[in-house]
Amino acid sequence: MIHSILFVCLGNICRSPTAEAVTRTKVRSLGLDVQIDSAGTAGWHIGTPPYGPMQDAARARGYDMSDLRAREVVPTDAQRFDLILAMDEENLCDLQGLGIPARLFTDYAPHMGASFVPDPYYTRDFDGALCLIEVCADGLLADLQTQ
Ligand code: 4NP
Repeated sequence: MIHSILFVCLGNICRSPTAEAVTRTKVRSLGLDVQIDSAGTAGWHIGTPPYGPMQDAARARGYDMSDLRAREVVPTDAQRFDLILAMDEENLCDLQGLGIPARLFTDYAPHMGASFVPDPYYTRDFDGALCLIEVCADGLLADLQTQ
């Protein structure tokens, strides 16, 4: 049974906090007992809130991320979380280097034809990333409900 999920990206200010906020909202609306967190493979933004344009895109779709703060992934996350989901292959490689087993979040939305969540910090497509994250979260929740 999965009772805790960690989302991981590079900076923990765009994709993974969005995945955290979206999935937490869906978990709550379904009344499931699943703890959600997010972290970055890099420590550049430790303690800072999600990136402003990402927060704006999320708020426009009803997700408030203002209370989230970035943190860096640590090896003990492997024991703390039942499921660790990476946003792209680079995150996956970095996690493997830390001895943390993980899989890709996009595995939960195979029909979308995306093998990673593009980083809006670089693409500037914040709403596109949010859309893909919502679909992946729906697939994840559907999977959790069959447990
Ligand atoms: P994220 O995006 O991994 O989705 O949080 C990034 C945010 C910041 C940086 C890189 C990626 N940065 O280089 O500061």
